[in-house]
Amino acid sequence: MISFKLRKGSVLAATTLLFSVFGFNSASHAQENEAIHLGVQTCAASTCHGAAQPWQNSIVSQNEFIVWNNHDAHSKAYQALLSDRGKRIAAKLGIGPAHESQTCLACHTDNVPAELRGKNFDITEGVGCESCHGGAENWLGTHVSGVSSRDILVAAGMYPTEDPVARAELCVSCHQANPDKLVTHRLLSAGHPRLAFELDTFSVNQPAHVRIDDDYRQRKPAHDGANLWAVGQAVAARQQLRALAKSMQSKANLFPEFTFFECGSCHHSYDNAQWQAQPGVGLGPGEPQLYDANLVMLRAIAAAVTPNTAAKLKTQTRVLHRATRQGAGAVARAASTLADTVDGLTAQLTQTPLDQTALQATLATLTSRQHAAEYADFGAAEQTTMAIAAIMDTLGQTPADGSLDRLYTATKSPARFSSRGFTNALAQLRESLK
Ligand code: HEC
Ligand code: HEC
Ligand code: HEC
Ligand code: HEC
Repeated sequence: MISFKLRKGSVLAATTLLFSVFGFNSASHAQENEAIHLGVQTCAASTCHGAAQPWQNSIVSQNEFIVWNNHDAHSKAYQALLSDRGKRIAAKLGIGPAHESQTCLACHTDNVPAELRGKNFDITEGVGCESCHGGAENWLGTHVSGVSSRDILVAAGMYPTEDPVARAELCVSCHQANPDKLVTHRLLSAGHPRLAFELDTFSVNQPAHVRIDDDYRQRKPAHDGANLWAVGQAVAARQQLRALAKSMQSKANLFPEFTFFECGSCHHSYDNAQWQAQPGVGLGPGEPQLYDANLVMLRAIAAAVTPNTAAKLKTQTRVLHRATRQGAGAVARAASTLADTVDGLTAQLTQTPLDQTALQATLATLTSRQHAAEYADFGAAEQTTMAIAAIMDTLGQTPADGSLDRLYTATKSPARFSSRGFTNALAQLRESLK
């Protein structure tokens, strides 16, 4: 079991996720650039990013290496492949040792091709600095000179991690879905943890090794948590839809790739039949439904800022769900159409960030009775919980009465999820908002 820390502002210590990813060999975004990766040790000198304590008079803390090494799971990502669980997963899949499998290395390390590995590069460092910040070959020189601007560094190949869309693409490529690097049901069934991603929550939990202060704001645009959440939802939805469309186009199997579906559609007890209609989905009893939690979040956002897009998302999402009755081609087409709509919304969200009014309206939709009834599945409940936490944190409205924690408790485990429990917790939160 993997522990999934709650974001700041919650009193619960930890919640666990049950299961989760499978990969084709593909590099993440920051690995796409053709620069040589020099290895974590190149960044870790005590006068660079390996200071024992944060520096006060420097524009960055300079202890980023220590934070990553001591507190960030990415520094242990290669070790996870050597753990008992990692070995067990690989043995069940019959793919040889996990730490030699390209499938596993693709997400658990900075798996650039051999010719892009510098002499101090070390694959056992896991998801290191350059997995996210990009191969340093072409920017290290001007970077250590201390006089280069952000634009010069980005032009030299540093990855724009401060840009919400770029950051979301980076994280989502390993944490959710990507047309080339996908998490399959085979991997989940072999014991890989189930993935659940939300950009703001995960940026807080990593833990963040960035200091957003006045000088940061002069160098880079800063984004509040709720807007990171919103852009994260749009990018996650688009990547999920593009990956779904690709998987459907190449389908040579009787079954579709189950990882694109809501787990609880199939994994639940039938001792006491509890199927219930979800008007937003438009499918009947016994029909597994595609995972659409990010689309549900986007509809709540669009309803606040662009009602026409909200209506379009609603119609197109129903078309997508119903396309599963028609076949792989229909699903692929519906997914591509939706992905285009989501791209339009992403552009709007980056041009005009959500303001207080829009955030209040989005929060009202997410906490409404109708929202709970329309989306009774685990995935939407889990994303709703993280969304409410992100928005309330940004608005400075995190409730002190424990009602947010009750939402976290209700979405702790997909296997023990009860939509009634979630609806009740949401009703309590609604009360506390009055
Ligand atoms: C598409 C990306 C991806 C692929 C491919 C992938 N993983 Fe993972 N893996 C992750 C992510 C992301 C997590 C962390 C999940 C979380 O906590 O949200 C993880 C977590 C794990 C964990 C739990 C780690 C812990 O600290 O508890 C193990 C073990 C693991 N993976 C093994 C494997 C093995 C073995 C393979 C190859 C068969 C593999 N993974 C392939 C992305 C991937
Ligand atoms: C999982 C992705 C990831 C990894 C791994 C990672 N970073 Fe970061 N880093 C980020 C993000 C996201 C930010 C915040 C956005 C920004 O300001 O660019 C950031 C910010 C920073 C900053 C502050 C930038 C500023 O302008 O204030 C420094 C310095 C930094 N990282 C150095 C490192 C070093 C050194 C390592 C390796 C020891 C590392 N990072 C590993 C994603 C990562
Ligand atoms: C190259 C793939 C990769 C990228 C890119 C990546 N991650 Fe991860 N991340 C992982 C893996 C693998 C793990 C699990 C490591 C382990 O537990 O051993 C992980 C773990 C985490 C965890 C800990 C999860 C837990 O359950 O405790 C957080 C938080 C996280 N990542 C946030 C981020 C954020 C934010 C970004 C984008 C800035 C990001 N990651 C980018 C692969 C990646
Ligand atoms: C369309 C139906 C369907 C969906 C959707 C589905 N699964 Fe499965 N799952 C199955 C079937 C069938 C098996 C195989 C059962 C067996 O091997 O006996 C299985 C097996 C598993 C197993 C191994 C079970 C065991 O007892 O060891 C895990 C873990 C798992 N699925 C996780 C997930 C997760 C996580 C999701 C959501 C991302 C998911 N499944 C979505 C049908 C589904």
